[in-house]
Amino acid sequence: MPSDAPLSLLGGLTAAEFLRDYWQRKPLLIRGAFADFESPLDPDELAGLACEEGVEARLVEEDGPDGPWQVSHGPFDEAIFSELPERDWTLLVQAVDHYVPEVAELLDQFDFLPRWRLDDIMISYAPPGGSVGPHVDQYDVFLIQGLGRRRWQLGGKVSDDAPILTGIDLRILERFDVESDDDWILEPGDMLYLPPGWAHHGVSQSDDCMTYSVGFRAPSADEAITSYADYLGEQLPASRRYGDAGMTPPTDPAELDDDALERMRELILATLDDPTQLAQWFGRVMTQPKYVDQLAPSETPTDVDELVALLQDGEELLRSAGSRFAWRMLDATHATLFADGDGFHCAPALARAVAGNAALDAALLRHEGATELLAALVDAGTLAWPEEEEE
Ligand code: SIN
Ligand code: CO
Repeated sequence: MPSDAPLSLLGGLTAAEFLRDYWQRKPLLIRGAFADFESPLDPDELAGLACEEGVEARLVEEDGPDGPWQVSHGPFDEAIFSELPERDWTLLVQAVDHYVPEVAELLDQFDFLPRWRLDDIMISYAPPGGSVGPHVDQYDVFLIQGLGRRRWQLGGKVSDDAPILTGIDLRILERFDVESDDDWILEPGDMLYLPPGWAHHGVSQSDDCMTYSVGFRAPSADEAITSYADYLGEQLPASRRYGDAGMTPPTDPAELDDDALERMRELILATLDDPTQLAQWFGRVMTQPKYVDQLAPSETPTDVDELVALLQDGEELLRSAGSRFAWRMLDATHATLFADGDGFHCAPALARAVAGNAALDAALLRHEGATELLAALVDAGTLAWPEEEEE
């Protein structure tokens, strides 16, 4: 896709224009982003998913039996859906792209952004009046109207410490002032992009309202520092430590002086400032599966000869639903393929093929090291043969 092509998904903006003017900066409403959008799943199918073990689902009732803005967590018993009132509740199901291939295909539309920034597609269902209250999210989101109508009102950028309602399980803003121009009814196929920290409130206006939230991943400084320090810490020799060879006698032996502080600062900064380690950690972190438990590693190591024979017979390996990939050059002739939180050094063309959308077939075998890499990915559960996936 040339980066200067106008995209109908972005209302005729090019990817470069969208990224320059809107991404992480300000909201954008795109009418008809998806022409003739047909929701790949219906409300009953969404409710069915919310009843399955291992699927992350929440029910938000504005006037719940136990109080306002009551949140209950799945898996749900099917019977609850017939007991709910006719209005003012919302069912939210996370990571539907992991379970419904047609939903996962929507992610391909967002290829103008790094794939490893995408997190998942959450789908909500609501009868009239259903909402999760005015709130802010910490992540960018594209809200696609899938079925029915939803009114979206925006309240501008709010500070991190904006007061929220207390005593409930949702982070609903205590104050929400609608900016008068930012008040729209979205129809199926319309899409609203919101940057992080932007107050918003979406209320269902129809019997069956389904909204698809394409969400992104961005580690906080807090998470990044802790996780990078843990990653480095596992590899550092115990001998690398604070040292003060050549110091001058202390003026006061109890004083922690500037020189001591500077030695510690240098130890920490020199350890952290290692571009190779940073890349290895970053690739692993951004490809961590959303639900580690959903990866199904093989019970027995893959037989490499059998793997080659199957590929040569015309079989194709599949990327497991929810598996995440990225790649980066390691040196002039090698790359690291990052897959589900792990890193594999291999030929750059091989890393690119596995991390991209290409078919995983016998053509891969021409790359040096392909057999071992594919076997390791099958062992990890990142790749699988079609039959195994359906079991
Ligand atoms: C919803 O779909 O009801 C809520 C999505 C959001 O506000 O992030
Ligand atoms: Co939100």
